[in-house]
Amino acid sequence: MPKFETQVVETDLLILGGGMAACGAAVEAAYWAKKSGLKVTLVDKAAVDRSGAVAMGLSAINQYVGLKDGKNTVKDYVDYVRNDLMGVTREDLVANIARHVDSTVHLFEKWGLPIWKDEKGNYVHEGRWQLMINGESYKVIVAEAAKNALLQNGTGQIFERVFIVGPLMDGDRCAGAIGFSVRENKIYVFKSKATLVAMGGAVHVFKPRSGGEGMGRAWYPPWNAGSSASFTLQAGAEMTCQEVRFIPVRFKDAYGPVGAWFLLFKSRATNAMGGNYMVERKAELDHWLPYGHVKPVPANLRNYLGMLDVMEGKGPLFMRTEEAMQALADTYKDDPKAYKKKLKDLESEAWEDFLDMTISQATLWASTNVQPEQKSSEIAAAEPYFIGSHSGASGAWVSGPPDLQTDETRGEYFWGYTNMSTVKGLFCAGDASGASSHKFSSGSHAEGRVAAKSAIKFIVDNKEAPKIDTAVVEAKVAEILRPLEVYDTHKAETTDCEVNPNYIKPRMFMFRLQKIMDEYAGGVTAQFMTNKAQLERGLELLAFLREDAQKLGAANLHELMRAWENVHRLWQAEAHVRTMLFREETRWPGYYFRADKPQMDDEKWHVFANCRFDPASSTWEMRTRPIHHIFPQPKEHELLGG
Ligand code: FAD
Ligand code: ADX
Repeated sequence: MPKFETQVVETDLLILGGGMAACGAAVEAAYWAKKSGLKVTLVDKAAVDRSGAVAMGLSAINQYVGLKDGKNTVKDYVDYVRNDLMGVTREDLVANIARHVDSTVHLFEKWGLPIWKDEKGNYVHEGRWQLMINGESYKVIVAEAAKNALLQNGTGQIFERVFIVGPLMDGDRCAGAIGFSVRENKIYVFKSKATLVAMGGAVHVFKPRSGGEGMGRAWYPPWNAGSSASFTLQAGAEMTCQEVRFIPVRFKDAYGPVGAWFLLFKSRATNAMGGNYMVERKAELDHWLPYGHVKPVPANLRNYLGMLDVMEGKGPLFMRTEEAMQALADTYKDDPKAYKKKLKDLESEAWEDFLDMTISQATLWASTNVQPEQKSSEIAAAEPYFIGSHSGASGAWVSGPPDLQTDETRGEYFWGYTNMSTVKGLFCAGDASGASSHKFSSGSHAEGRVAAKSAIKFIVDNKEAPKIDTAVVEAKVAEILRPLEVYDTHKAETTDCEVNPNYIKPRMFMFRLQKIMDEYAGGVTAQFMTNKAQLERGLELLAFLREDAQKLGAANLHELMRAWENVHRLWQAEAHVRTMLFREETRWPGYYFRADKPQMDDEKWHVFANCRFDPASSTWEMRTRPIHHIFPQPKEHELLGG
């Protein structure tokens, strides 16, 4: 076993992660920290320039409210999000992000992000809320601003390639975090007065559609492995919407996003017989009222209508790219030169959409001779992901902004510092905070800014540094390094280091987790269907897996990271299964279906389903929280208005 050095880093604000929310947090924290003479430290497991979900770039900014133009209001956005989530959302959190997001988008533009403009100089919209960008370098631009803010005004420091394993506590207050370098034999102990979790969501908790031939390929980036959820759970924070996974419909096998095709290109998706499930299955929407009648149709219901076709043997489903491109070009039919140019422009836009964001989809098109102007492409529902910043909702239960509370919400949604979890000094943003969906890249950045400002205020009000027990740190160091030791002790007892009765390698551990989740918790193989008995059996098997986590073996630092990633996934998995079990209804068909409770039960379950792991007793607590509105509710005819 190699020797590991321990480095202790003392800071005021600790930002965990280097993605969109963390970069937003860095920019804002640097500003407020300088005023108060405080230190800010950011830690990312990867390199901030290309880390997180935006690593490859994106082709759109999915949240822009456009308040200045007067076309949309904050309430419009809240209505949109609540409807899309079948009525389950924290309006105070969504409104807070919506009223700040435009300023974040204007910062992106100032920092150099090319946003498409029309001939009048206005932003080109993909849909009502989305702006088109040339986004290959989106993350590099956002990262540069974060680094400049932290490093140039003397408030901050950045640690890259340091993997955060879990929290350090001082009683009920978060006192920092512990992790290790993935490049050198070094443990890091970060001591902080406030900690902001922004380590993204989780992928590969469920078996992906891709098998050995394309292992690791998924829509969501493989390096976000549930670290946010496991961190907040282990700290004892209350969590919300852990049952609300996201199933995106994607171009099959390379997972290319569909938003630009549906919204910008105005494409249809049809089944193998040419039928449009959104039209042919419209009557199904009547079973999910009032949300079945809102516009746009909620993402899970759109999925569900397509899934019904597939389950009836009418697959595959196709995105009708050729038809959509032709229809757009046809509007220029009377001018042959303009028509030719439009076709060419559409072709490059089609390819750029993927080259900006999901390069593998462009590669797959090229390698299978697909010309989107000539041929449809297959689409399919992907495996479940945990991404509360997108169309999922899972994350920590956080305090809302004081000025957006009503008499009803104040006791329930507000306890002092905006975006603080139920654990003192522990803040969350982006995928790490729950019940505030549809923030995407821009809203996550804006929420990071909000959370960081609030965390600095917490530090100013709570100047005393929390204490960390050295014996606890020593025990944690031994625990973190145990997979290296287990492997080292037993590696000679086998001819194939992958197979050994004394340890389980991270990859095998992940396969086992994915199989349990796939079969019992409504993955692809189970056609996103589960029930009480399946979930209970799944929990039994997850308990055995947790026992075997003690036997994880890692041959090197890279595998040590893989080992802990999978432990983090296990935390996310357990919170998910427990909450699906708790919510005795089907509210989001198309994300999952509880076959034993096949209907929505608004009377009993129009509530948040929350859970908490109690670190003292190692037990789980489940509870509901009421859904309150901060805006007047739309009347039925407004729901139909779009
Ligand atoms: P991320 O940006 O994913 O950042 C997570 C960070 O945590 C990373 O820096 C990661 O390295 C770090 N991290 C993870 N684990 C650890 C650990 N244990 N220790 C230390 N650091 C850790 N949004 C749009 O607006 N427009 C789009 O077109 C769009 N397209 C998308 C396409 C794809 C394929 C995907 C996956 C997402 C897309 N989104 C889009 C959504 C957007 O990317 C996310 O909403 C946003 O990135 C969430 O921000 P975040 O900070 O919570 O997480
Ligand atoms: S992405 O994040 O990977 O780009 P996606 O392509 O699904 O996601 O969606 C991009 C944006 O378009 C999101 O705001 C999503 O809600 C929206 N969107 C996608 N498809 C539709 C649709 N058929 N109707 C309305 N909005 C849609």
